[in-house]
Amino acid sequence: MHSPMAPHAEPALRLRGITKRFPGPSTDFLALQDIDLEVGAGEFVSILGPSGCGKSTLLYMIGGFIPASAGSIQASGAPVAGPGRDRGVVFQDASLFPWLTVGDNIAYGLREGGMRGKQLTDAVADMLSMVHLSGFADFYPGQLSGGMRQRVAIARTLAYQPDILLMDEPFGALDAYTRSVLQDELMHIHDRQRKAVIFVTHSVDEAVYLSDRVVVLDRSPGRVHSVVRIDLPRPRIRQELLRCDAYQEYVIALGTVMMDMHADA
Ligand SMILES: Nc1ncnc2c1ncn2[C@@H]1O[C@H](COP(=O)(O)OP(=O)(O)O)[C@@H](O)[C@H]1O
Ligand SMILES: [Mg+2]
Repeated sequence: MHSPMAPHAEPALRLRGITKRFPGPSTDFLALQDIDLEVGAGEFVSILGPSGCGKSTLLYMIGGFIPASAGSIQASGAPVAGPGRDRGVVFQDASLFPWLTVGDNIAYGLREGGMRGKQLTDAVADMLSMVHLSGFADFYPGQLSGGMRQRVAIARTLAYQPDILLMDEPFGALDAYTRSVLQDELMHIHDRQRKAVIFVTHSVDEAVYLSDRVVVLDRSPGRVHSVVRIDLPRPRIRQELLRCDAYQEYVIALGTVMMDMHADA
């Protein structure tokens, strides 16, 4: 079962009044306005919203890649001033180093962190096994399917044990079957490791299936439209959930919200 945050536990992530403006030719473009969000340690939160509502921008700010125009972000108790090893990021295109083998892609960040020898070999083997790619250590990314590449990207990021996992539509480019397999793998990893996950998606089904909470963003400017707690027990089993009325009701309710937003656009 999912263990709720202890009452006074520090949240893994805290956003206060996050606003982002991009400079435009005449006026600035207001991409995100006044976003407040807290994510508990071990909580799985999806950011759901139509294309262009600022999901990626929000994730890049949490990652520390771009600054906010106003507001504050605290991760693992400290203000975010740039990228850090407490936050691991997985993008939609696996963005692996094509000139390195699968094993060396995973080892890369660990070597940078000073790991060597048997400890490194064991850590890479553990990660490969976790994403069901044992036996592929010597393959190059170009020899793998999209789903396998995305597994390597997840393994590479989890290898250095971030507290918070940031994922930007990580399964968006995969076929439906591979996507559902990777959703299940991610869910199993989350069940075991209990990291805070911020998962960006525009798929209602995916958000409901994976999340403890879904934050719906509106567009122009990007604002929190609503927050829905997904009160479905874990571990979740797809074939059971699909037959479960509560699951279907979440999907219908969030789907309606998304359709209304598209209709306004
Ligand atoms: N560097 C940038 N300069 C100007 N506008 C940007 C920049 N990055 C994103 N935007 C704009 O901000 C909005 C949100 O973009 P994005 O975060 O990519 O949305 P999403 O990921 O939800 O599709 C879009 O209108 C996009 O065009
Ligand atoms: Mg995006």
